[in-house]
Amino acid sequence: MANIAVFASGNGSNFQSIAEALQSSSHRIYCVICDNPDAYVITRARSFAIPCHFVTYRNRSRDQAEETILSLLKPCSIDLIVLAGFMRIITPLLLAAYRNRIVNIHPSLLPKHPGTHGIRESYHSGDKELGITVHYIDQEVDTGPVIAQESFIREGHESIEEIEDRIHQIEHTVYPRVILHILDKMDNVK
Ligand code: GAR
Repeated sequence: MANIAVFASGNGSNFQSIAEALQSSSHRIYCVICDNPDAYVITRARSFAIPCHFVTYRNRSRDQAEETILSLLKPCSIDLIVLAGFMRIITPLLLAAYRNRIVNIHPSLLPKHPGTHGIRESYHSGDKELGITVHYIDQEVDTGPVIAQESFIREGHESIEEIEDRIHQIEHTVYPRVILHILDKMDNVK
């Protein structure tokens, strides 16, 4: 059995797909860390009876917020931190505590369109091939080693909402699959 913590800032549809996938596994989501008190992911976590901790980043440094996060995660041995729409930069503090054990999903084919507007920038680009990336986190934004990518060819007439839906659908199948694979591998070396 492996334990994960999911970090999210908003809607939480990726959290939901991961929580559903893990239900039929031996792994579990120990808690959700959320930096936004109005995020819908809080409601989703409640419906799975998974503890959700709100951690504010307001009026304090990222390091201070991460100190709080570290203390929340400390009671449990967390094998993997899963960023699922977490719109904060991770500092060397958390990176050092969870070296090579923090993964992220990004709604573009990195290195194209990093940052907070991956879908919008992908949509407005001339790119014919769009997609998603799952990668390990490093000290830069959206630059860490790629674990998986999945792409599709756009037809050209789609609206941004249709592209967004397609990207989310792909995220919801690829991210749980990749996480389960990593956790199963971790279990095998325990
Ligand atoms: C997802 O599309 C994810 O790829 C993106 O935020 C969305 C969160 O959706 N993440 C980033 O842009 C990270 N730079 P969700 O809250 O419904 O899971």
